[in-house]
Amino acid sequence: MALQQGVTEIAARAAPIIDGLKGLDGPLLPILHGIQDEFGYVPTETLPVIAEALNLSRAEVHGVVTFYHDYRSHPAGRHVLKVCQAEACQSMGSDALAQRFKDLLGIDFHQTTPDGAVTLEPVYCLGLCACSPAVLFDGQPVGRVDAETAGEIVAEARS
Ligand code: FES
Repeated sequence: MALQQGVTEIAARAAPIIDGLKGLDGPLLPILHGIQDEFGYVPTETLPVIAEALNLSRAEVHGVVTFYHDYRSHPAGRHVLKVCQAEACQSMGSDALAQRFKDLLGIDFHQTTPDGAVTLEPVYCLGLCACSPAVLFDGQPVGRVDAETAGEIVAEARS
């Protein structure tokens, strides 16, 4: 009963977003962005509602959600740390930097620390190539991140 109520509430919050955007040309991505803005992620319960509104199969909607790195299928932690993995940052050691964050946090990309503090995600170019390797911490760009800065970011996220 409680589960059903949760599903209904999510669908009720999603409905006006879907209704407001479904008339656009190519409405699926804007709708998914709108849903993620509302919930912080794209709840599975919204997929059939979106599919029905756009006359798509649920598998098609699910395929788009999983294809794009921007969409989360689970709620994010209190802080979101995105580590650039595109070419310029790669050439400046972003692989090792990502590994450092994974070790410090004890999680992999697309995961959240068990205490709910930090979600770690890859991102593909932040427009900060001149300051590689770069990360985005709660929407704030940080350039030339070295092992020490990485430790400071993690300490701040956990404080
Ligand atoms: S490649 Fe990392 S900011 Fe552009």
